[in-house]
Formats: sequence, C-alpha cells, structure tokens
Amino acid sequence: PNLEPFVDELPLLPVIAGSELELRAASTVHRFHRDLDPSPALAYGGMDYLGPTVEARSGDPLTVAYRNEIGVHPLADDFDTSLHGVTEQDRTAVPTSMHLHGAVTPPEHDGHPAFLQRPGQGHVHRYPIVHEATQFWYHDHAMGITRLNVYAGLAGLFLLRDEFDTGTAENAWGLPSGEFEVSLVLQEKRFTADGRQSIRATPLVPQGRWDAGTPGDVGVVNGKIWPDLEVARGMYRLRVLNAASFSVWNLFFGNRMRFWILGMESGMLPAPVPSTRVRLAPGERVDLLVDFGALEPGSTVELRNDEPPPLGALQRGARAMPLFCRFRVANGRGIAGAVPETLRGGRGRPTDLEPVPTPQVQRTVTVMQLPDPSTGGVLMSLNNLRFGDTDIEMPRQGTVEQWNIVNVTPEPHPIHLHLVNFRILGRQAIDVPTYTRRHPPPPVGTRWAPPVDEFVASPLAPPEPWEAGLKDTVVANPGTVTKIVVRFPTAGQLGFDPDATFAAGTVGAAPPGDPAPLQGYVWHCHMLDHEDHDMMLGYRVVAE
Ligand code: C2O
Ligand code: CU
Repeated sequence: PNLEPFVDELPLLPVIAGSELELRAASTVHRFHRDLDPSPALAYGGMDYLGPTVEARSGDPLTVAYRNEIGVHPLADDFDTSLHGVTEQDRTAVPTSMHLHGAVTPPEHDGHPAFLQRPGQGHVHRYPIVHEATQFWYHDHAMGITRLNVYAGLAGLFLLRDEFDTGTAENAWGLPSGEFEVSLVLQEKRFTADGRQSIRATPLVPQGRWDAGTPGDVGVVNGKIWPDLEVARGMYRLRVLNAASFSVWNLFFGNRMRFWILGMESGMLPAPVPSTRVRLAPGERVDLLVDFGALEPGSTVELRNDEPPPLGALQRGARAMPLFCRFRVANGRGIAGAVPETLRGGRGRPTDLEPVPTPQVQRTVTVMQLPDPSTGGVLMSLNNLRFGDTDIEMPRQGTVEQWNIVNVTPEPHPIHLHLVNFRILGRQAIDVPTYTRRHPPPPVGTRWAPPVDEFVASPLAPPEPWEAGLKDTVVANPGTVTKIVVRFPTAGQLGFDPDATFAAGTVGAAPPGDPAPLQGYVWHCHMLDHEDHDMMLGYRVVAE
C-alpha cells in the first residue's frame, strides 16, 4: 500500500504503576495508519497493540500476574513447525512466556523460552527490582515463535526510577519530565495489500517457513506508521527502544541537529554525550536529550535512519527504511532546561561509573550462520550449537569474565545476556577466512569456538562513546570480535539462587517430550528471527 506519512498523531503510551500489577496478553485488532483497515494484532494489558509502560521504583519489589488470553494468532499461517518445539497445536493454543528484558530476575520468573503459558494459563512473576534507574522492556519469549508474538504486538516499555531519576521535575539532573519525557517504541513492518501486518519479507520463502530476516519497509512508532508529534519549543527527553525484528538503525534528525545521549540499557553514562547520530540495534535502548528550542514555530524535523539492510537481506529484496516519525514545532515555549554536566557524580549520587573490572576468565563464543541439514535452508547458531544443546556456558558466581564474541557471518548481530549487565572493552576486525580454515567447524551440534587472538587484524577499537556505560545488549559486527566484561553476581548479592531448577511442567502443559526441569538463563541474538532458529543458548551461573 502507498501510504501518506504524518497523518496519524504519535500515540503516547499509557503508564501503569504499583507493586502488584496484572498483564494479560490478548488477541486484538489495531489500526496502524489512517488509511489502512484495522489489522489483527496481539497486545498486553487491555491495549490493542503493544502494552502499557510499566513504571517501577528501584528497591520496591514488583509482582506481575501474567495471563495468556490469546485466541486466534494473527500470524498463525506463519508458524514453522520445523523450528525447535513448535507444533501444529501452537497455532490455536499459542504458547507464550513473558520476559522482562534487562532485569535481575530469579530464573523461574525470567520468561525462559521453554517455560510456557498457553491460553487460560498464567504465571505470577516476582521481580526484585534492584537496579538503578534505566529503561527495560518486556516482551514475549516463547521458543520458535518469539518473532511472531513480538511482531504481532507483545512488547511494552518498563521505566525504572530511583531517588535521582525520579521521573518528576525534582530529578537530580533537571531533565525534562512529564509531558516533556516521551517514549518511542521503534519497529519496522510490512503490510499486505488489505492492510494486515505481515512478517513475510519475501515471496521467495513459502509462507509457513522461517525466513532469515524480516526487514520492514515502513517505520512504526508506538504502533503507528510514520506518526507526527507536536512538540513545544524546548527540551525533551526521548526514551527510545529498538523493538524491531531484524534491523540495526543509525538514527539521526533530518536537520542533522545535535542531541545528547544520556544512557543506554542499564543506566546513565558518566556525562551526556553530544552526537548527531546514534546506532541502535534490536533490543537496545537509548535515553536522549533533544532541544527543539532553536527551531522556528511551524517547522518540522524527522527522526530518520540511514543504515542500509545488510547484504544478505538486500539480496532477499529488502530496501532501506529511512523514516520513523516527525516532530512538529508548536508556537509555545517549552522548558529551557540546561544540559547537565554530569549524570553520575553530581547531586549526591554515590558512585561514578566504576572502571571496567579486570577479567579473571576469558571465554570465546561464536556467532555463525550454517546450512540447516534438516531443511536445506539456513540455521543461525551460537558456538555451532542449537537451542537445547547442553554444552553451554557455565560461569561461576562472583567471577569477572571477558567474553570474546566472534561474529563470522556477514551481518551484525545484537547479542543479549539475561540476568547480567556488562561493559564493552572494544571491537577488533578478524581474518575470518584464515580463522575458519585453520579451525574448520565440525558438523552442527559440536561446540566450535576456537580462540581468536592470533586472527585479529586491527587494533582494539573502543566502544562508541554512547556505549561506554552499562549495557545488556551489544552489536557484534560482521567479521569482528566484540570483547565485553561481565561480572557474574553471587546468590548472596542477588538474594536468590540464580542456578535454581524449576519445573517446566508446573505451569502450562509442558510441550510433549520436553518435561525436563529447567535451569538458568539464556543468551541470544536479539534479531527475533534469529533467536527463533537457533541463535540462542541456555547458560547457568553456577555456585562458587
Ligand atoms: Cu529482549 Cu532474551 O530478550
Ligand atoms: Cu542475529
């Protein structure tokens, strides 16, 4: 469909707060654009697309009673029963698992991809909420259909406040709040001619077969295609999430104006980073300070992307997706607020960002694309393994580890670890042909993660300035080793056992043949298409 941009107002996402919340997942219909018919969708919490923004306070435990009330899945014809655990029955009895991305969570409340709730079933998630103020998000994580559940609408924002970032005008840094703090959930989508949202990237792959990536051709923000937001002439705080299935974006404003990056996934940077662009991969969040004060009343400025799809996606027919939304500058003066000099040391905040700790253990892991022997297509993999393989990472509680994430594919992959956050040491190009020739990968199912140090082909490039703080997701660029440092917490620090087992069968009907108790967490590529097949592995944080 040929759609006109900027005809819909940007929806502002409603906020819910409290210590005992309820979130139900349900089938809905949602209108993505004025000129499209409403499309079947999924949503949380009574919305017709996405979920309400949950606002929580650091130190206040939170329970969320989750319940699956999904009827018909809007993308039922796209289920691929050759993927791990997916059955015919799932199309009508849709399995779900709600995950709070970024949170420190006991394993049984983490939304493990095999801990499933089917329609009529639920789970009461208990979240300790121990983290400093930042922006998490919650989304479905059911194995093999995460890409379909999230794309259909099962995602929401989660703002964490603390004594410094109070969410009011009294916050420690004088940041814009109230109507001047706006959340933007960025997505990419495709639509059929009759206006239904569609996950099919290319007619080359038959419907019902997994596809290696679904780049969109229209930008969707808070559930509307290319929406428009009226802004006052002044400062705004924009809380931005890349909730896309596939694409990494290089975001900028159409007039190339400078803005300030305050923080990313797991907290504030030491000080605002001025920039005219920020790169944001699926799963990553960024906290921006933007000044519309110098713009003429009546003028407009667009939020745009200029990162093209990776080569493989271009070959499958993807096009660049340049536009998200537009800001329309009103006559009224907004708040003048200043750019804070520091975001961590000031106003009695106890700690500056710590130096990156010294790793005690080095661990090499690999990001691969392989031929799939069972379908003749491709398979995405970590360490040459598939989800469910047992040769997993088992870091010890209390250790600081360096993970060398080696991406031997031609695409960037955002790698996310549950439970922990980390710092980025840097990235180095590697000589992939020599690495793979010297250490040929065995057949899929046998671990392959040879040390990479002799194959590096460039000095260590430091993280982008906005990546210098605490993160939970990192882009592993093609032909590159990305080095991160992770401190794995102890049970004592957490107040729960991160290695506790929990029974897959206690909630919902465990999928047939999968009754084994579950343990631990997962790490995976946050391209939703990739984590479904099979770029995800379990991991355990074992006792000291
Ligand atoms: Cu946002 Cu395991 O995911
Ligand atoms: Cu990936």
